[in-house]
Amino acid sequence: MTTVLYITEHNQKERKSISSWVGERFLREYKKSHPEDKIITINLSKENIPSIDNEFVDIFNKLKCGIQPSDLTTSEQNIISKFNKFADQFISADKYIFVNPMFNHFLPNKLKAYLDAISMIGKTIKFNSNGPIGLLKEKKALHIQSSGGVYKHNDIESSDFGHKYLKYIMNFLGTETIDGIFIDGLDVYKDKRDYLKKQASKKAIELAKTF
Ligand SMILES: Cc1cc2nc3c(=O)[nH]c(=O)nc-3n(C[C@H](O)[C@H](O)[C@H](O)COP(=O)(O)O)c2cc1C
Repeated sequence: MTTVLYITEHNQKERKSISSWVGERFLREYKKSHPEDKIITINLSKENIPSIDNEFVDIFNKLKCGIQPSDLTTSEQNIISKFNKFADQFISADKYIFVNPMFNHFLPNKLKAYLDAISMIGKTIKFNSNGPIGLLKEKKALHIQSSGGVYKHNDIESSDFGHKYLKYIMNFLGTETIDGIFIDGLDVYKDKRDYLKKQASKKAIELAKTF
């Protein structure tokens, strides 16, 4: 069975958030064309995502040097298990849908923390003498992102660091296919919000059939 992780951070009601609105439409259409798939929603605003601190860095370096997780102290293993909870769930899925508004040219904090949590040595990434090897092969991802400004096909496209980073980290972890639906210009063209929503929704409905 195909498992899909729908990862979002919105705690606003669906009607207030345009990225969630488009994400929900994608999901509704996706369910119609993939009725057998299991869909798991992760609302990051409700999750206790561990953050990378000094203790974690020490453990990370030990693992990177080849120390086995079973050789870590109990306290170190407890820290790792908080990260592994998210990494294991991520590995068990086949497709990922990330839904977020752009904040300060990047991803919301919790989404970045989530990506840190799933980037675990021995789980989603390993290192050999040639460097890193991403272990999330044969998966695919979709990034649905809204923004106040217009980024796509514009001279500020390169300052969309959020999508660039998400794409990079997923590639780094072994996932090569990253689709994108961008609802941009929501603040610049306030009077065209309905039109922009509808355009993105059309794209979402089309992509949902083949994703
Ligand atoms: C704190 C904050 C920072 C923002 N930073 C940016 C930004 O860097 N670029 C941009 O185009 N829009 C920015 N915005 C606007 C939001 O991206 C835009 O309002 C949002 O995409 C609306 O989407 P939503 O309805 O899905 O929440 C920012 C909004 C907030 C609240």
